[in-house]
Amino acid sequence: MAQSLTLAITKGRIIAEVLPMLARAGIFPDEDIATSRKLVFGTNRADLRLLVLRGSDVPTYVQFGAADLGIAGKDTLLEHNGADFYEPVDLGIARCRLMTAGLVGLAPRPGRLRVATKYVNVARRYYAEQGRQVDIIKLYGGMELAPVMGLADEIVDIVDTGNTLIAHGLEPRALIADISSRLIVHKGALKTKYALIQPLIDQFRQLAAG
Ligand code: PRP
Repeated sequence: MAQSLTLAITKGRIIAEVLPMLARAGIFPDEDIATSRKLVFGTNRADLRLLVLRGSDVPTYVQFGAADLGIAGKDTLLEHNGADFYEPVDLGIARCRLMTAGLVGLAPRPGRLRVATKYVNVARRYYAEQGRQVDIIKLYGGMELAPVMGLADEIVDIVDTGNTLIAHGLEPRALIADISSRLIVHKGALKTKYALIQPLIDQFRQLAAG
């Protein structure tokens, strides 16, 4: 049977930037992803299908080989701590910064900090490196509300324009990492499907270079 590839893509902002890249590579989904309720799409390439997933599920699918390749934000990959996949291409899209933030003008208090975030692993590592003792509070969204409501002293979240922070009376504090979307590849699939995957990696590398 002919081999085929599955590429898992993060829905939302990332796929909005990935689809034009795929179009430049001559790859088109067989229906409009933006309006469809489907999560799996064929393409004009008989050997390539696309999965549209939540960001944090992309490295999971690739780690277990349920998808051969994936496109996810570096923030998600840092949080996932992934093994079993390579990260061969920085696509240079969906750029933002992973930062700490807190209420404007309120210096972080000494002693134990309460930090609200969905990036619990990243936050734990970051504050440990800083020698700060923290209690991490896991949230699934709307992190900006936590300092406003007194739930946390700081948040760890992605900052793009900074407008969401400003809208909540927050200020960015420390930069944890510059973020962009990355192509990831399951290690086993790269071996067993090398002839299909390597040209796609090369194509993404060219597209990322502009
Ligand atoms: C992200 C992030 C901030 C916002 C930052 O949320 O959590 O809320 O974007 O962008 P800004 O600096 O341009 O205001 P997103 O809209 O991606 O939704 P999410 O909460 O589901 O991650």
